[in-house]
Amino acid sequence: MSAAQGFVPEYPIRTERLLLRPIVTSDAEAMLAYKSDPEAVRYVPYGPLTRDEVADRIATRWSTTRFDKEGDAVCLAVEEAATGRLVGDVVLFWRSENDREGEVGYILDPAAAGRGYATEAVGALLDLGFHGLGLHRVIARIDERNTASVGVVERLGFRREARFVEGSWFKGEWTTLLILALLDREWRSPIIEE
Ligand SMILES: CC(C)(COP(=O)(O)OP(=O)(O)OC[C@H]1O[C@@H](n2cnc3c(N)ncnc32)[C@H](O)[C@@H]1OP(=O)(O)O)[C@@H](O)C(=O)NCCC(=O)NCCS
Repeated sequence: MSAAQGFVPEYPIRTERLLLRPIVTSDAEAMLAYKSDPEAVRYVPYGPLTRDEVADRIATRWSTTRFDKEGDAVCLAVEEAATGRLVGDVVLFWRSENDREGEVGYILDPAAAGRGYATEAVGALLDLGFHGLGLHRVIARIDERNTASVGVVERLGFRREARFVEGSWFKGEWTTLLILALLDREWRSPIIEE
Protein backbone atom coordinates (compact mmCIF):
# COMPACT_ATOMS: atom_id res chain seq x y z
CA MET A 1 0.00 0.00 0.00
CA SER A 2 1.27 3.48 -0.80
CA ALA A 3 0.92 6.61 1.27
CA ALA A 4 1.50 8.80 -1.78
CA GLN A 5 -2.15 9.83 -2.28
CA GLY A 6 -2.64 10.91 1.29
CA PHE A 7 -5.52 9.87 3.46
CA VAL A 8 -8.68 11.38 4.94
CA PRO A 9 -9.73 9.42 8.05
CA GLU A 10 -13.40 9.03 8.96
CA TYR A 11 -14.31 10.52 12.32
CA PRO A 12 -15.00 9.69 15.01
CA ILE A 13 -12.68 6.73 15.27
CA ARG A 14 -14.19 4.37 17.84
CA THR A 15 -12.41 2.04 20.19
CA GLU A 16 -13.81 -0.05 23.02
CA ARG A 17 -13.95 2.87 25.48
CA LEU A 18 -12.91 5.94 23.49
CA LEU A 19 -13.66 8.22 20.58
CA LEU A 20 -10.89 9.91 18.61
CA ARG A 21 -12.12 13.01 16.81
CA PRO A 22 -10.88 16.37 15.51
CA ILE A 23 -10.05 18.95 18.16
CA VAL A 24 -12.57 21.80 18.36
CA THR A 25 -12.59 25.25 19.94
CA SER A 26 -14.73 24.09 22.85
CA ASP A 27 -11.99 21.62 23.89
CA ALA A 28 -9.78 24.51 25.00
CA GLU A 29 -10.75 24.52 28.66
CA ALA A 30 -10.35 20.78 29.16
CA MET A 31 -7.07 20.79 27.24
CA LEU A 32 -5.73 23.73 29.23
CA ALA A 33 -6.05 21.66 32.41
CA TYR A 34 -3.22 19.35 31.33
CA LYS A 35 -1.40 21.47 28.71
CA SER A 36 -0.70 24.06 31.42
CA ASP A 37 0.46 21.43 33.92
CA PRO A 38 4.30 21.50 34.09
CA GLU A 39 4.46 17.83 35.09
CA ALA A 40 2.14 16.66 32.31
CA VAL A 41 4.08 18.51 29.59
CA ARG A 42 7.56 17.84 30.96
CA TYR A 43 8.52 15.47 28.14
CA VAL A 44 6.43 16.90 25.29
CA PRO A 45 7.88 19.48 22.89
CA TYR A 46 5.76 22.40 24.11
CA GLY A 47 4.45 24.15 27.15
CA PRO A 48 3.35 24.62 29.75
CA LEU A 49 0.85 26.50 27.58
CA THR A 50 -1.34 29.46 28.45
CA ARG A 51 -5.04 29.70 27.64
CA ASP A 52 -4.27 31.89 24.59
CA GLU A 53 -1.60 29.48 23.34
CA VAL A 54 -3.99 26.54 23.60
CA ALA A 55 -6.67 28.49 21.71
CA ASP A 56 -4.16 29.54 19.06
CA ARG A 57 -2.91 25.99 18.51
CA ILE A 58 -6.46 24.63 18.28
CA ALA A 59 -7.10 27.20 15.54
CA THR A 60 -3.90 26.33 13.66
CA ARG A 61 -1.64 23.30 13.90
CA TRP A 62 -4.04 21.15 15.92
CA SER A 63 -6.86 21.61 13.39
CA THR A 64 -5.39 19.42 10.63
CA THR A 65 -7.71 16.47 10.10
CA ARG A 66 -6.26 14.81 6.97
CA PHE A 67 -2.95 13.71 5.55
CA ASP A 68 -2.25 15.40 2.22
CA LYS A 69 1.51 15.41 2.17
CA GLU A 70 4.59 14.31 4.02
CA GLY A 71 5.11 16.51 7.06
CA ASP A 72 1.39 16.70 7.89
CA ALA A 73 0.42 15.89 11.47
CA VAL A 74 -3.11 15.01 12.55
CA CYS A 75 -3.91 15.75 16.21
CA LEU A 76 -7.04 14.17 17.63
CA ALA A 77 -8.97 14.66 20.83
CA VAL A 78 -9.45 11.51 22.90
CA GLU A 79 -12.89 11.39 24.42
CA GLU A 80 -14.21 8.90 26.96
CA ALA A 81 -17.15 7.36 25.10
CA ALA A 82 -19.26 6.77 28.22
CA THR A 83 -19.06 10.35 29.51
CA GLY A 84 -18.05 12.52 26.54
CA ARG A 85 -15.19 13.83 28.68
CA LEU A 86 -11.96 14.87 26.94
CA VAL A 87 -9.23 12.72 28.50
CA GLY A 88 -6.27 13.63 26.31
CA ASP A 89 -5.02 13.94 22.78
CA VAL A 90 -2.89 12.03 20.34
CA VAL A 91 -0.97 12.94 17.22
CA LEU A 92 0.25 11.05 14.17
CA PHE A 93 3.02 12.70 12.18
CA TRP A 94 3.55 11.62 8.56
CA ARG A 95 7.34 11.82 8.64
CA SER A 96 8.33 10.41 5.25
CA GLU A 97 6.45 9.54 2.10
CA ASN A 98 9.35 7.63 0.57
CA ASP A 99 10.02 5.58 3.70
CA ARG A 100 6.33 5.41 4.65
CA GLU A 101 7.27 6.40 8.16
CA GLY A 102 5.14 8.00 10.85
CA GLU A 103 5.59 9.02 14.45
CA VAL A 104 3.15 8.98 17.34
CA GLY A 105 2.72 11.43 20.20
CA TYR A 106 0.23 11.34 23.08
CA ILE A 107 -0.75 13.02 26.31
CA LEU A 108 -3.42 12.25 28.87
CA ASP A 109 -5.04 14.42 31.46
CA PRO A 110 -3.36 13.03 34.61
CA ALA A 111 -6.85 12.46 36.03
CA ALA A 112 -7.42 9.85 33.30
CA ALA A 113 -4.13 7.98 33.64
CA GLY A 114 -3.69 4.39 34.74
CA ARG A 115 -6.65 2.92 32.85
CA GLY A 116 -5.03 1.99 29.57
CA TYR A 117 -6.61 4.90 27.69
CA ALA A 118 -3.33 6.03 26.12
CA THR A 119 -2.54 2.51 24.95
CA GLU A 120 -6.06 2.16 23.51
CA ALA A 121 -5.94 5.54 21.75
CA VAL A 122 -2.45 5.02 20.29
CA GLY A 123 -3.57 1.57 19.12
CA ALA A 124 -6.32 3.25 17.12
CA LEU A 125 -3.77 5.72 15.76
CA LEU A 126 -1.64 2.79 14.59
CA ASP A 127 -4.61 1.29 12.77
CA LEU A 128 -5.07 4.65 11.08
CA GLY A 129 -1.38 4.89 10.22
CA PHE A 130 -0.83 1.35 8.97
CA HIS A 131 -4.23 0.51 7.47
CA GLY A 132 -5.35 4.00 6.41
CA LEU A 133 -2.26 5.96 5.49
CA GLY A 134 -0.35 2.86 4.46
CA LEU A 135 2.67 3.43 6.66
CA HIS A 136 5.44 0.85 6.82
CA ARG A 137 6.98 1.96 10.08
CA VAL A 138 5.92 4.06 13.05
CA ILE A 139 8.34 5.39 15.62
CA ALA A 140 8.15 6.97 19.05
CA ARG A 141 10.89 9.24 20.40
CA ILE A 142 10.88 9.23 24.17
CA ASP A 143 13.02 10.71 26.94
CA GLU A 144 14.24 7.59 28.71
CA ARG A 145 13.07 8.94 32.08
CA ASN A 146 9.52 8.89 30.75
CA THR A 147 8.85 5.28 31.72
CA ALA A 148 5.06 5.68 31.55
CA SER A 149 5.38 6.68 27.90
CA VAL A 150 7.75 3.82 27.08
CA GLY A 151 5.16 1.53 28.68
CA VAL A 152 2.45 2.74 26.31
CA VAL A 153 4.30 1.84 23.11
CA GLU A 154 5.91 -1.31 24.49
CA ARG A 155 2.42 -2.61 25.38
CA LEU A 156 1.61 -2.10 21.69
CA GLY A 157 4.63 -4.10 20.55
CA PHE A 158 7.17 -1.38 19.74
CA ARG A 159 10.81 -2.51 19.84
CA ARG A 160 13.59 -0.45 21.42
CA GLU A 161 15.87 0.41 18.52
CA ALA A 162 18.19 3.13 19.69
CA ARG A 163 19.35 5.11 22.70
CA PHE A 164 21.00 8.44 22.04
CA VAL A 165 22.90 9.35 25.18
CA GLU A 166 22.40 13.07 25.88
CA GLY A 167 21.46 13.32 22.21
CA SER A 168 18.97 16.09 22.70
CA TRP A 169 19.12 19.54 24.30
CA PHE A 170 15.56 19.77 25.51
CA LYS A 171 13.91 22.28 27.82
CA GLY A 172 17.22 23.42 29.23
CA GLU A 173 18.98 20.10 29.79
CA TRP A 174 20.68 17.25 27.96
CA THR A 175 18.30 14.36 27.63
CA THR A 176 18.82 10.75 26.62
CA LEU A 177 16.44 9.79 23.88
CA LEU A 178 15.03 6.35 23.11
CA ILE A 179 13.75 5.47 19.65
CA LEU A 180 11.17 2.71 19.59
CA ALA A 181 9.58 1.44 16.41
CA LEU A 182 6.92 -0.86 15.02
CA LEU A 183 6.57 -2.16 11.46
CA ASP A 184 3.31 -2.73 9.60
CA ARG A 185 3.85 -6.49 9.61
CA GLU A 186 4.39 -6.41 13.37
CA TRP A 187 1.08 -4.68 13.95
CA ARG A 188 -1.72 -7.18 13.77
CA SER A 189 -4.30 -6.33 16.41
CA PRO A 190 -6.72 -3.75 15.03
CA ILE A 191 -8.68 -2.03 17.81
CA ILE A 192 -11.10 0.05 15.73
CA GLU A 193 -14.61 -1.36 15.85
CA GLU A 194 -16.75 -0.96 12.78
C1 LIG B 1 2.52 8.85 28.74
C2 LIG B 1 1.13 8.74 29.35
C3 LIG B 1 0.06 9.00 28.29
C4 LIG B 1 0.95 7.32 29.90
O1 LIG B 1 -0.24 7.25 30.65
P1 LIG B 1 -0.67 5.87 31.31
O2 LIG B 1 -1.93 6.11 32.04
O3 LIG B 1 0.49 5.28 32.03
O4 LIG B 1 -0.91 4.94 30.05
P2 LIG B 1 -2.25 4.14 29.72
O5 LIG B 1 -3.38 5.07 29.65
O6 LIG B 1 -1.98 3.32 28.53
O7 LIG B 1 -2.46 3.25 31.01
C5 LIG B 1 -1.52 2.25 31.33
C6 LIG B 1 -1.63 1.97 32.80
O8 LIG B 1 -2.96 1.63 33.12
C7 LIG B 1 -3.01 0.26 33.55
N1 LIG B 1 -4.23 -0.30 32.94
C8 LIG B 1 -5.40 -0.41 33.58
N2 LIG B 1 -6.33 -0.89 32.75
C9 LIG B 1 -5.73 -1.10 31.56
C10 LIG B 1 -6.17 -1.58 30.31
N3 LIG B 1 -7.44 -1.95 30.12
N4 LIG B 1 -5.29 -1.65 29.28
C11 LIG B 1 -4.01 -1.28 29.46
N5 LIG B 1 -3.53 -0.80 30.62
C12 LIG B 1 -4.38 -0.71 31.68
C13 LIG B 1 -1.72 -0.36 33.08
O9 LIG B 1 -1.34 -1.45 33.89
C14 LIG B 1 -0.77 0.80 33.21
O10 LIG B 1 -0.44 1.02 34.55
P3 LIG B 1 1.07 0.77 35.08
O11 LIG B 1 1.96 1.72 34.31
O12 LIG B 1 0.98 1.09 36.51
O13 LIG B 1 1.36 -0.65 34.75
C15 LIG B 1 0.94 9.75 30.52
O14 LIG B 1 1.89 9.47 31.51
C16 LIG B 1 1.11 11.19 30.07
O15 LIG B 1 0.18 11.80 29.55
N6 LIG B 1 2.30 11.76 30.27
C17 LIG B 1 2.57 13.14 29.93
C18 LIG B 1 2.70 13.35 28.43
C19 LIG B 1 3.85 12.54 27.85
O16 LIG B 1 4.90 12.43 28.45
N7 LIG B 1 3.59 11.99 26.65
C20 LIG B 1 4.56 11.16 25.97
C21 LIG B 1 5.62 11.97 25.34
S1 LIG B 1 6.82 10.90 24.55
